[in-house]
Amino acid sequence: MLICTKKLSYTYMPGTSFKVEALREIDLSIDRGSFTVLLGPSGSGKSTLLQLLGGLLRPTEGAIFIDGRRLQYRRRELRELRRRVGLVFQEPERQFFCETLYDEIAFAPRNFALPPGTVKERVEQALQQVGLDDPALLQRSPFQLSAGQQRLAAIAAVLAMQPRLLLLDEPTAGLDQAGQRKLFALLQQLNRRPGFTVVVVTHRLDRVASLADYYLVLDRGGLLMEGSPGEIFSRAEELHRCGLSLPPVMLLMHELIAAGLPFSPVLYSIEEARREINAWRKKVARP
Ligand SMILES: Nc1ncnc2c1ncn2[C@@H]1O[C@H](COP(=O)(O)OP(=O)(O)OP(=O)(O)O)[C@@H](O)[C@H]1O
Ligand SMILES: [Mg+2]
Repeated sequence: MLICTKKLSYTYMPGTSFKVEALREIDLSIDRGSFTVLLGPSGSGKSTLLQLLGGLLRPTEGAIFIDGRRLQYRRRELRELRRRVGLVFQEPERQFFCETLYDEIAFAPRNFALPPGTVKERVEQALQQVGLDDPALLQRSPFQLSAGQQRLAAIAAVLAMQPRLLLLDEPTAGLDQAGQRKLFALLQQLNRRPGFTVVVVTHRLDRVASLADYYLVLDRGGLLMEGSPGEIFSRAEELHRCGLSLPPVMLLMHELIAAGLPFSPVLYSIEEARREINAWRKKVARP
């Protein structure tokens, strides 16, 4: 177990008439090496939870355990957490503040006082990982990149710290199909490294959601479901009720499963559904 939470609650502006109870008594666990997707409709508390897991917010009540140790919010502990955990915010490009792309990616490694040679290596590696290793871009202002390139640059800035746990908030928002595919491939590649954990937030059952081997579903600040793809997608009605409608191809697969066909209730793209149906047809056609 990498992370678990016990009765984790978070209230914005507690004790005032503006208080918002964003999360209520969340008990969850995320395994080391998993690809976890955190689902939930808008306002359900996903970004709040991600910031708590990244140590940026402190629980109003309850606790977070990392590798079995309760997070106490001591300075040294938080510094170590920042080194090991990469948090990519929703619209991360809003937080750029350096004059060049190079400085933006080098910021965290420099902040951790890594030697200049290592900083350079880290920057080059991180930009190469996200496919932004064009030397012409290095001295450009990060604000003069395209929206998709800015998103990739923000991810590179986090990868430059070589984290073991990556938390990403709606990372595909605003990317075109090619950009999304590139990002999926990168996340899958990182997740294949032993012990590398990825947690992705999304409010739609889209392609990124299909990469998960574990799901957490939030609804109005509470944890509605937690489990494997099979466990989550067999509860389509409940997902629908909290505004997470299954794509049409999934509804069709569910109808076929309900009619007795031997398909698994995972998240299918049209291509995957076609493959599954064709494989089944071949099997039943055999004498
Ligand atoms: N800084 C803040 N101050 C006060 N309330 C906030 C703040 N940030 C979020 N909230 C409230 O907390 C609740 C959860 O918000 P959060 O941003 O975590 O939702 P979300 O699931 O990430 O939504 P989205 O999919 O729209 O990004 C919402 O009711 C929101 O209005
Ligand atoms: Mg959010």
